[in-house]
Amino acid sequence: MKNSSNEVSAGSAPAQKRSNFSGKLGYVLATAGSAVGLGNIWRFPYLAAKYGGGIFLVIYLILAVTFGYTMMTSEEALGRFTRKSPVGAFARFGHSFGFKFGGWINAVIPMLIVPYYSVIGGWVTKYLVSYFVHSAQSVSGNSYFTSFISNAGSAELWFIVFCAIVVLTILGGVKNGVERVSKIMMPVLVVLAVIVAIYSMTRPGALAGVKYLLIPNMKHFSIMTIVAAMGQMFYSLSIAMGILYTYGSYMKKDVNVETATYQVVAFDSGIAILAGLMVIPAVFSFYGGKPSVLNAGPSLMFITLPKVFATMGLGRVVGVMFFLLVLFAAATSAISLAETSVSTFEDELGWSRARATVMIFVIMIVLGSLSSLGYSLLDSVRILGMQILDFFDFLTNSVMMPIAAMATCLLVIRAAGTKLIEQEVTLSSKFFMRKMYNVVIRFIAPIFLAIILISSILNVFGIVTI
Ligand code: PFF
Repeated sequence: MKNSSNEVSAGSAPAQKRSNFSGKLGYVLATAGSAVGLGNIWRFPYLAAKYGGGIFLVIYLILAVTFGYTMMTSEEALGRFTRKSPVGAFARFGHSFGFKFGGWINAVIPMLIVPYYSVIGGWVTKYLVSYFVHSAQSVSGNSYFTSFISNAGSAELWFIVFCAIVVLTILGGVKNGVERVSKIMMPVLVVLAVIVAIYSMTRPGALAGVKYLLIPNMKHFSIMTIVAAMGQMFYSLSIAMGILYTYGSYMKKDVNVETATYQVVAFDSGIAILAGLMVIPAVFSFYGGKPSVLNAGPSLMFITLPKVFATMGLGRVVGVMFFLLVLFAAATSAISLAETSVSTFEDELGWSRARATVMIFVIMIVLGSLSSLGYSLLDSVRILGMQILDFFDFLTNSVMMPIAAMATCLLVIRAAGTKLIEQEVTLSSKFFMRKMYNVVIRFIAPIFLAIILISSILNVFGIVTI
């Protein structure tokens, strides 16, 4: 990327008419809504269990408030300065191939993620409705999950229902759709998470799980603890998917970027810990913390937990509350991914919001159906040895996202300049973390990103295991 910092004048980009969040609360809840998702509730607990419990948690939190905070601030400040989604934000600093590539890779990632993410959102919706209408015992049957996802019609139906929730919210607009839905769903999610966590922690034998998650033990530490925590932090904070550029572009100039960012990090980490407290003690109580059960990954949420719920006195109620909170988490994240894509179509192609929304709906249905049908009609298809959904997840999370984040680092270091980020942050407050920001973005982030990229590719080819 060529250095063109001299071409960019100080101060803000020309003011344009653009949708806004109403204020700081709206921004924080919408961004927390984006961050808090399946990553927190399904991915965090099993990674924490696998990589050492308390020690994983400590490392995760240190990375989130340093590395995560730095990447988030960069994207938010660039978005707010340029008032554009990622393609326009990069183009503001230059038009050579590097800027185009950096902008488009950030913009395409959410278009590839939201289809398969919505397939899982459809599974969550189906489970929520099942707990409403059936007993906890019938949802916990051994083949319940596999027979559902291998039934093409049923999996497609629930996937489309979830897509409809997302698209209808987007049609409502930034303030009346995205912000309003986040302001309702996020507080409800917190309350439900606290109730389910307390219930789970008070089951007989659950305390061992609470201790495992919260008390750091150096014996459980390995270098992979750091690598896994780094990858998870990225996934969880919605970094490198164009989202924070876009949401930053909707942030008013008087919102304090620094405190808003830390509030989102705190919200996201808090829900991840609560999710750990919901899942790990329940599994300890039921299975005595068997590593093979805790490490089971995806099946934890759809197979193991329903079995645990079925043994609880209030299993059905807990099932409804749990899947409702997961649905809210998944919906607000999918909304942020779709909103980012809509914003790119509006900014770069000059489309109306309605037309852009129809386009992302079509993309979701076409690409998502490939992932959804990968467990039924297309179940013989393998790409690089992976199922279609896993392939999209690998392509975006393991390959494209570290590259997209690297592009953001280069944009800040070589083109926009850290001074511009400082200026944008100090528009509304002091920049208390300025020194740390500078060190991390220049020296630490590029090294960490290279480690994430290399390790996750090696992981897929079985050379290391994450
Ligand atoms: N940050 C959200 C989560 O933790 O689920 C959203 C998200 C993360 C979406 C990663 C997609 C993704 F690949």
